[in-house]
Amino acid sequence: MFKKAVLIKNLILLIPILMILSCKQKEQAASQLVEDPHSFSKPSIAVVEHLDLDIKVDFESQQISGKAVWKINNKAKSNEIIFDDSQLNISKITLGAEEKETTFTYGEEKEFLGRPLKVVITPETKLITIYYTTNAQASALQWLNPHQTAGKKRPYLFTQSESIAARSWIPCQDSPGIRFTYNATVSVPNDLLALMSAENPEVKNSTGIYHFKQVHPIPSYLLALAVGDIEFKAVDERTGVYAEPSVLAKAVYEFADMGKMVNAAEKLYGPYRWGRYDLLVLPPSFPFGGMENPNLTFITPTIIAGDRSLVSIISHELAHSWSGNLVTNATWNDFWLNEGFTNYFERRIDEEIFGKQEAEMQEEFAKKALEDAVKEMGDTSKDTYLKTDYTGRNPDEGTNDIAYEKGYFFLRTIEEAVGREKFDTFLRGYFDGHAFQSVSTEQFLAYLNENLIKGNSDLEKKIRVNDWVYGPGVPSNIAYSKGLWAKDGKFAKIDHIASVWNKNELKDTSVLTKEIVTSNEKKFFINLLSPEMTAKRMADLDRQFNFTGSNNTDIQLAWYTLAIRHQYTAANKRIEDYLIENGRMWHIIPLYKEMIKTPEGLKRAKEIYKKARPNYHPMTYLAIDKFLK
Ligand code: BES
Ligand code: ZN
Repeated sequence: MFKKAVLIKNLILLIPILMILSCKQKEQAASQLVEDPHSFSKPSIAVVEHLDLDIKVDFESQQISGKAVWKINNKAKSNEIIFDDSQLNISKITLGAEEKETTFTYGEEKEFLGRPLKVVITPETKLITIYYTTNAQASALQWLNPHQTAGKKRPYLFTQSESIAARSWIPCQDSPGIRFTYNATVSVPNDLLALMSAENPEVKNSTGIYHFKQVHPIPSYLLALAVGDIEFKAVDERTGVYAEPSVLAKAVYEFADMGKMVNAAEKLYGPYRWGRYDLLVLPPSFPFGGMENPNLTFITPTIIAGDRSLVSIISHELAHSWSGNLVTNATWNDFWLNEGFTNYFERRIDEEIFGKQEAEMQEEFAKKALEDAVKEMGDTSKDTYLKTDYTGRNPDEGTNDIAYEKGYFFLRTIEEAVGREKFDTFLRGYFDGHAFQSVSTEQFLAYLNENLIKGNSDLEKKIRVNDWVYGPGVPSNIAYSKGLWAKDGKFAKIDHIASVWNKNELKDTSVLTKEIVTSNEKKFFINLLSPEMTAKRMADLDRQFNFTGSNNTDIQLAWYTLAIRHQYTAANKRIEDYLIENGRMWHIIPLYKEMIKTPEGLKRAKEIYKKARPNYHPMTYLAIDKFLK
């Protein structure tokens, strides 16, 4: 009895000690921050925790100006804190609530990265106020004149911070391994609406001053702002769409399923933790299909096809609310943790909503995309490892189908090895256990070993983690739904029609439009066309399908690539218009690259680019300038 009591007493005494220890361990884990080669900041010495942003958006001078007030944790009681800066004009920096002016210097400027902003602080400093103005060349900002918008009357501004462009519009510690909450006050012309990656207003107010709050800690690449003649319409209680007035109704129709998508996602991997989930439809120069800014996914208007055929982009951006925004890649060398997980999650949502066949067909496209990427990069290239090393290069170069599709197939292969049920439980636990944290590839692998593989050598052999993560190309154990989709009548039929057509043996061409109807079926068919295509045969198909006149950007990309390759000049005008109107990087760069393969094509590409460049976002034109100028 006595002994037991002592034991209990000792245990009670032990609890606070253990708690202190565990806090210590947590702190240590946090201070064992992974080195980020794409940020100058030193978070293990002094790190930001909260931002109060107060800015004015001026369309005349095309400048954002104001102040960024940072709450910091000066962990090492240092006399210096380092921020990332790209071309900002900083006028003054002060310390503390009393705003005592301090001094600052810049380190050496590096290509892509900008320069370190070194601010003198004291060991006690908790608050830093940086007064600044953005540069006209800020790589995150696109200032649109009215002509470049749908309404044609008012200007528009939007940001794109991922990967390392946040530093061009806010002085920040621009690493995905560093998280902070934020509040913002944004002043804009009083007939425009401002929106951010935060809790948002639904209507304009007469002052033009808007307040924002992001209560969850996010990394800097998720800072976002858009300003324009924008209106809102709810889809259901927690989802809705923002767009220019003339686009809004079409957008609401197109994305009517977004509430269902959020429900499906929650059923898979746990609660949606961000409050509302809304979309902002941007003008066509938006450089991506979509960008997962928290609370407010930014999307290109080019996915409004009229038939809801391109909405899987929404599944993708929504999935980032778990993979990416909740659990974040620690550095851009771990980018597959963001995009590979998201592609996996995206296809699971689509399977719930559109059925297995749709998901399997996407997988089929994905496999081809991965094989093409490996072919292009070389099957021994280190850039085809999941864990990449983009030190000294722009991390945007790593945004390719290795991260997206090799990442996807790695997870798909684990799913196949352990079974879906187990894998889902594992993923759910992974998201919950790392919520609002950043994770490196190595940390993920340790978690995988501890929680799923658990030393089971059969599983180890089945999965071959090292071959996927630290090896090139596509490992031979890749799992996929080996053409199950093709056994279904529809796609097997199209496969057959394509092979007969490719041999020029299709007698009754009316079967083409009878059997190949939906956008996905058309895209599938175009992908099966033989490399021995000719311009004349493209004209034959165009008579049936009018692919050249398609408004589905996936079909346009696939068809225009063939048109350029096979000199099908009847599509020239459409291609030119497409390249001038549309700034979606990954849908226009492949076309320019296809063009420049011949001398005449190069000449034409230069002519078109001259007209198109002024419409593009800095991110887009900086990428194209590299191979065409
Ligand atoms: N986060 C990416 C966009 C991105 C990646 C911006 C890297 C900057 C650097 C976004 O989630 C994305 O993947 N967009 C795709 C969607 C597609 C895969 C469904 C796009 O824009 O095409
Ligand atoms: Zn993504």
